[in-house]
Amino acid sequence: MKMHRFEEIWLIFGVAVLVISMAITGYQAFAQGMGPPSHKETIDPTQVENTAPFDNPGVYQTGENEYEVVMALQAFSFEPSEITVPKGAEVTFIMTSKDVIHGVSAPHTNLNTMVVPGQVQRITQTFHESEEFLLVCNEYCGTGHQMMSATITVEE
Ligand code: CUA
Repeated sequence: MKMHRFEEIWLIFGVAVLVISMAITGYQAFAQGMGPPSHKETIDPTQVENTAPFDNPGVYQTGENEYEVVMALQAFSFEPSEITVPKGAEVTFIMTSKDVIHGVSAPHTNLNTMVVPGQVQRITQTFHESEEFLLVCNEYCGTGHQMMSATITVEE
């Protein structure tokens, strides 16, 4: 049985796209170290409240224009739940979970990550506009998932 010419072309094209994508992704992940971080910083999830810096969740100024937001997540809340940072500052969120996997997402920003118990997640974001962001949990974490939110106020 002979394959149709167009079918052959599309088959070759499809395989080529797959191979090229895998080569690019593999090169970035392994040769350039761009793979997602995992198990870089670990923590005992039952001792979050007694482990620095999570024993004191909050917003801290760490440099002239740098801030750290230390956050502990649990079903179904963020601690702190009201965050205020200045516009243009480099804000590093340091997060962990006390129970199950949660997510953090601020729509229309690059702030979007999973927060896994036993691991410390860091993500840096600069907010260029003074506005209020709703920070939501985007990993289903139980019956109160849809109520799990916090606000980030970016001040002038
Ligand atoms: Cu926490 Cu969904």
